[in-house]
Amino acid sequence: MIQPLLSLDHLCFKVGNRTLLSDVEFELHPGERVAILGANGAGKTTLLEMMVGLNLPSSGRVVAFGKPRRSEADFREVRARAGLLFQDSDNQLFCPTVLEDVAFGPLNLGRSGPEALAIARRTLDELGIGSFSDRITHKLSGGEKRLVALATVLAMEPDVLLLDEPTTGLDEATQELLTEHLLRLRLPLAMVFISHDAAFVERLANRAVILKNGTLIKSVLHRHPHVHAHSHIHVHPEGEEPRHPHPDDLAEASHDASPMLKEQSEPSVTFKQAGILVEDHDQ
Ligand SMILES: Nc1ncnc2c1ncn2[C@@H]1O[C@H](COP(=O)(O)OP(=O)(O)O)[C@@H](O)[C@H]1O
Ligand SMILES: [Mg+2]
Repeated sequence: MIQPLLSLDHLCFKVGNRTLLSDVEFELHPGERVAILGANGAGKTTLLEMMVGLNLPSSGRVVAFGKPRRSEADFREVRARAGLLFQDSDNQLFCPTVLEDVAFGPLNLGRSGPEALAIARRTLDELGIGSFSDRITHKLSGGEKRLVALATVLAMEPDVLLLDEPTTGLDEATQELLTEHLLRLRLPLAMVFISHDAAFVERLANRAVILKNGTLIKSVLHRHPHVHAHSHIHVHPEGEEPRHPHPDDLAEASHDASPMLKEQSEPSVTFKQAGILVEDHDQ
């Protein structure tokens, strides 16, 4: 059997007297894109950080790339191969400019200055943010920081990608770009990601687990035909021809007429909703 890239073995984590994680069992294999689902405060971030030694287990063990990992030196090796996108991008970015931030990882992994800069430029270009190179990192918007933070992780060409709520703060077009990009990547060999974004989970995940009451519940992620009626909110400039019928035109329509929002000088935009059904078979 192929060895897992990463495995968590009876992992427990206590915060003071509180047991946040208990008896967590998890394996990550090449080709997997695993979604970790769970309520706010369930311990998802803590768990993802434990995979790269940013939180050490109270008991149990982490095995990564074939070796049990305990010390900081062990985990430094793990972090060179498993890139973590932090939930808060400000924890990821610390250089004055975007290009320096993205080049930092490859430099740290032993690439020469020119090589690191070339990798950084290529990574930014691939993410469609080549024009950000010279921008001051701390002046970027939240969504822009998110993409740059992702670039810093991808520039290290990780074997495993760990993403903590990657689509938070991104507009719809950027979410789409990000999803397509992640689906296209040759590396990493596997991904684990935390997300509350149903559309993103549906597109990216080929497995899902639920963190509940401090432990991981294996789940079945499946698609099935699902027919339903729903409303969209459309925004388009007043006076501009809409690309859809307005409620007056729908008087005869049998389904629920969408509420329409009119805004002046805003581009035409449609907010979509996507559905995902995650059934918890252990309940
Ligand atoms: N090192 C720590 N010290 C104190 N509390 C912590 C620590 N790590 C996590 N927690 C707490 O554990 C809970 C779970 O946090 P987190 O892993 O961020 O949840 P999630 O990502 O699922 O929303 C939170 O209440 C958080 O404050
Ligand atoms: Mg979290």
